[in-house]
Amino acid sequence: MTQRIEIKEEGRTVCYCDYYTVLDELEIVFIKTEPEYRNRGYATRLMKELMSLCREKDIRFIRLEVRESNAPALGLYGKLGFVPVGRRKNYYTDPREDAILMDLEIKGA
Ligand SMILES: CC(C)(COP(=O)(O)OP(=O)(O)OC[C@H]1O[C@@H](n2cnc3c(N)ncnc32)[C@H](O)[C@@H]1OP(=O)(O)O)[C@@H](O)C(=O)NCCC(=O)NCCS
Repeated sequence: MTQRIEIKEEGRTVCYCDYYTVLDELEIVFIKTEPEYRNRGYATRLMKELMSLCREKDIRFIRLEVRESNAPALGLYGKLGFVPVGRRKNYYTDPREDAILMDLEIKGA
């Protein structure tokens, strides 16, 4: 079942992340910051919350897929220590594009 964590400002969701967990893995389905709130650290904060949650629940890996042209997302994940572990050819449509698979091993989990 997909779960969500979010950050609200004045009652409005400005950043959210949908994810699910299977055994010792957490898969990120989607993360989004509302355009006018980007580059202010919201997604970083949310990802760090997810990493804490993983430590509490003994989850060892966070996994995700990202479009290879998505520079902001790749920058965010790289900054947090995610490493590319594979590629899915033509995974996305409109436009057709490869997905980069990325993993983060949670230290101390
Ligand atoms: C990816 C996304 C969630 C980032 O949210 P955010 O709240 O702006 O992220 P933060 O402010 O916490 O972090 C920004 C980081 O992204 C990276 N970044 C932002 N713009 C970038 C760009 N144009 N090129 C490279 N890296 C960039 C940087 O690493 C930056 O960290 P820094 O400010 O310390 O250098 C946001 O851009 C978004 O909602 N995009 C649309 C949805 C999406 O593509 N989601 C990802 C699906 S896999």
